[in-house]
Amino acid sequence: MSELDKYKRFTVTSALPYANGPLHIGHLAGAYIPADIFVRHMRLKKKDIVYICGSDEHGAAITIKAKKEGITPKEIIDKYHTQIKTSFEEFGISFDIYHRTSSAIHHELSQEFFLNLYNKGEFIEKESEQYYDEEFDQFLADRYITGTCPNCHNEGAYGDQCEKCGTSLNPLDLINPKSTLSGKTPVLRVTKHWYLPLDKYQPWLEEWLIEGKRNKWKTNVYGQCSSWLKAGLQPRSMTRDLDWGIDVPLDEAKGKKLYVWLDAPIGYISATKQWALDKGKDWEQYWKKQDNTEDDSYLVHFIGKDNIVFHCITFPSILHAHGEYILPQNVPANEFLNLEGDKLSTSRNHAVWLHEYLEEFPGKQDELRYVLTSILPETSDSEFTWKDYQARINNELVAILGNFVNRVMILMHKYYNGKVEGSSALVDENLNQQIAAIYDDVEQ
Ligand code: 2FM
Ligand code: ZN
Repeated sequence: MSELDKYKRFTVTSALPYANGPLHIGHLAGAYIPADIFVRHMRLKKKDIVYICGSDEHGAAITIKAKKEGITPKEIIDKYHTQIKTSFEEFGISFDIYHRTSSAIHHELSQEFFLNLYNKGEFIEKESEQYYDEEFDQFLADRYITGTCPNCHNEGAYGDQCEKCGTSLNPLDLINPKSTLSGKTPVLRVTKHWYLPLDKYQPWLEEWLIEGKRNKWKTNVYGQCSSWLKAGLQPRSMTRDLDWGIDVPLDEAKGKKLYVWLDAPIGYISATKQWALDKGKDWEQYWKKQDNTEDDSYLVHFIGKDNIVFHCITFPSILHAHGEYILPQNVPANEFLNLEGDKLSTSRNHAVWLHEYLEEFPGKQDELRYVLTSILPETSDSEFTWKDYQARINNELVAILGNFVNRVMILMHKYYNGKVEGSSALVDENLNQQIAAIYDDVEQ
């Protein structure tokens, strides 16, 4: 028995990958293989479970890539959505639906969420000065501004973060800022945005998360959340001056879009809605509080550590402010997977790309899944090397597991005519109990 057995339903999500590039082994090890193992286990136990994912198709991540490839954002998302979906299928990640945030059902639900909070007066409306590129005639998303990091003096820091020292930044912190569009120094202009008052939710978060999840959530996740809360939360803007994304549903916000980190997690819900429509199910049972709280679904988000604050602080605050939704019971974020002694890096092309692996090792998906499963970065960063891949497959998968299965088959044929009768009465009771205990151990 597991403590999860009391729940009637399970809603499981894996982080929606940005549709701006192919997947690599770090993605699989971070948020997809762990979730897939959990989901397959629960399905074997005949649980009512839905496993949700899809492409995250908005935000500057997409428009920057489109600019780089010289094609439109729509062309970018169509290209990578298809490639990512295929890679997941090839590696047996068994989503019930792989949806997309460019869909109409998702746009509608995201706007509905925004309006729900807006009508309750939750947002703080604030004018502030933000960088504007006069040549391109547009406000600059944080990622479109580079400059010198005030902390470590790296000259290539972005408006939201310095990737060298890891400090999270505000574009106004950058020394000598430049627009990545025109290369020129941007000017400051006043613009209005709608902020989620995270400071107002702080007391609630202290209770729900700091009190409620102590010793329940993984220490890496809990630790990161407590240090955010200790530092004190600030209001966070939920809208952007961008031309790609979901329109802010207000007349006075023409041309503005919802912040991608508002709409992306709502993508879990809209994908569930689409799945329910396709399968004749009731999506609300998987997301909304039911009359009898015993009926609530167990909601769990599988993510990588770079997404912790959004899934543990921002999204739960949004769900709480809305009021009708259940909250995540767990957010088992993984740390990062490194490759041959170095961080995985898309820009330096230091990665094992899934589509390339499939070309070079056709039919060997389970081998990679096995190796990644053995080295999942559950409590600290872990390391993939090809030498270790070879050793684990030869020495463990083939020599131990393969040999074990082979011996069982041989003995079964030799002594039982190749048939397993399945009667535990034939086995010593003590042994039966030991076997049952192993199931429990493995499940935990
Ligand atoms: O970090 C990322 O790749 C984001 N696209 C994850 C989004 S997860 C969720 F909120 F949808
Ligand atoms: Zn820095």
